[in-house]
Order: sequence, then C-alpha cells, then structure tokens
Amino acid sequence: QAGLLYFGAATDTPGQRERAPYPQSYAQYDAILADPDEFGQTTPTNGQKWLFTEPSPGVFNFTQGDYVAERVADGGKKKLLRCHAAVWHNQLAPWVMMDGNATVTWTKESLAEAVQRHVSGVVGYYKGKCYAWDVVNEALDEDGTYRRSLFYEVLGEEYLKLAFGAAAEADPAAKLYYNDYGIERPGSNKTAGVKRLVRMLKDAGLRVDGIGMQAHLHADNHPSKDDLLQTMKGYAELVDEVAFTELDVRIRLPVDETKLAMQKECYQKVVAACVETEKCVGITVWDFYDPFSWVPDVFPGYGASLLWFEDFSKHPAYDGMVETF
Ligand code: XIL
Repeated sequence: QAGLLYFGAATDTPGQRERAPYPQSYAQYDAILADPDEFGQTTPTNGQKWLFTEPSPGVFNFTQGDYVAERVADGGKKKLLRCHAAVWHNQLAPWVMMDGNATVTWTKESLAEAVQRHVSGVVGYYKGKCYAWDVVNEALDEDGTYRRSLFYEVLGEEYLKLAFGAAAEADPAAKLYYNDYGIERPGSNKTAGVKRLVRMLKDAGLRVDGIGMQAHLHADNHPSKDDLLQTMKGYAELVDEVAFTELDVRIRLPVDETKLAMQKECYQKVVAACVETEKCVGITVWDFYDPFSWVPDVFPGYGASLLWFEDFSKHPAYDGMVETF
C-alpha cells in the first residue's frame, strides 16, 4: 500500500451478497475481509443506497448500511469507510418512481425537497464515519451528456448542485466525490463529460473533492497504464483526489491461464498508475470473492473478476498487485 492512503474491498450484507444459496459458513470470507494486511478500507456495495436507506418517504433505515459500516472495526485496525451512493438513478426506493401502478408526478419543488431530505438524512446519519461519499453516481450517458434520469428530467443539473450542497452541509469532513463508470480513458466523451460536470459544480461554488472511477474493466480490452495516468492527470486539475472505487476485471468464461494473465496485467496497471499519481488516494475492489461478484448477473458469460476464486485460492492478479505496490 506504499504511497496510497488505502487498498480496500467493498462488501455486502449476508443475504444480499450471495448469488446462490451457499452451503458453507463465511468464516473464511469474514477473516480475509477483516485482515488489516489485506484491506485498509471498505465500502457497502448496496446498503447505503436509497432503496435501503429511505424505503418510505422520510422514513430512514440504516440496518443494511450499518452492517458494513461496522466492519471497519473488525481485525483490530480501523479501516476507512467509503460511503456509496447518496443519489443514483438505480436501486431507488419504489416510492420515488411509482405509487401503486402509476408513475409518481414530481414537481421541481417536491423532488428538490426529496433529494435534499434524502442526502441530508443519509449523509447526516453517517457524519464523521465516512472518509468519502459518492454523492452522485452515474449522472452521465456514454456520450458525456446528462443521463435522462428522473432527477435530471425534473430538475436538470440543479439536482447535482442540491446533492453536493446538502452533502457538504451534512458532513463537512467527508470528501465529496462524483463517481461513474467508463471514465478511465482520457479521450472519451464521457471523460470530458465528467470534467464538465465537476467544473459546473465548482463554478456554482460547490465543494467537490474527488472523482471516482468505478473501473469495471475487461481482462481482454483494458486501458493502458498511460491511459489511466493521462485520465487522472486531467481530473487532478479539477479536484484534490481521484480513486478507483469499484475495481473488477471480468473474464469471458471459461477461465484459462491466458485470460488470468491478462487480468493480472490489468490489475497491475491500475495499481501502477495509482501509485504514480500523487492525487490517487486509493483503490477499492468491488468485493474480493468471485461468488459475491455482481458481474455474472449483469454480464452473462463473464465472471472470475475478483481476487479470490470460489475455493478461496487466489487469482494470479493478487500476487501481481502485491509486486506492483
Ligand atoms: C451493484 C451491486 O454490486 C449489486 O449487488 C447490485 O445488485 C447492483 O449494484 N455501479 C455502482 C454500484 O455504482 O453501486 C453497482 O453495484 C455496480 C455498478
């Protein structure tokens, strides 16, 4: 972990993370997660999302988020907590979208109030516990324009301002991040969009401390180290820190040695680029144990994207990263 503030792994609550009923106990998983020599940071993959934290209007529930927030004390050496994600168009509580069978009709005023209440409620509850918050997640389309989410359709870019403003007020010490996927390459429209979005917020007088690159990458078609360095250089002109927030490197199944070698190279490039970038504070893998990865559900035919196989042996990428740090 030389140079970086942390290397971490996201995790989820038992019951949410298992893709299939799983016969064994999780003692081995829990021990790896807790081991301070493995991870110095964690993120709840799901528990702080709107669906769980505000299941009915104004009614907050932090059971799922707290399960992971409490894991920072496991293993005897306190981990950093990255908090995720205050405003996102996915995994919203149903009441935000639907009332019975009908789409909820929001006005600018009512939705602004709901966003404000949600961000204040959730970020406020975790005040002092989060090293960083992904305040807004995935606000952009592939072409770098704003995603036509409910928030954008009703409020325009105002919702981004509201969210960052409310987060800054609710937890002045947390680093406030804009987080997105597919923003790891320097020349893309989406990368340009991120810079525009962050500049817009800063021009409006809002605090944005960091840009989070999710980095859900492919073993056989991944950014070069130079790409990563150049992308981060661009972001570093705008913000104090950058981070790889949801790193995984998927493989088209079946797994073989060649693909695992490409995966290892990809993981190594991320580590090398982060280590060489002054403002790159850390790397988070999106869980560490293949059976708990989101990849096979969302990208059929892909898997083995993390660092521990199902039998708890390690991917070659594990030693590859250790050598690179
Ligand atoms: C994913 C979780 O890993 C899954 O368990 C869940 O079903 C869907 O969300 N970008 C993000 C993350 O910002 O919150 C997503 O996490 C993966 C993509």
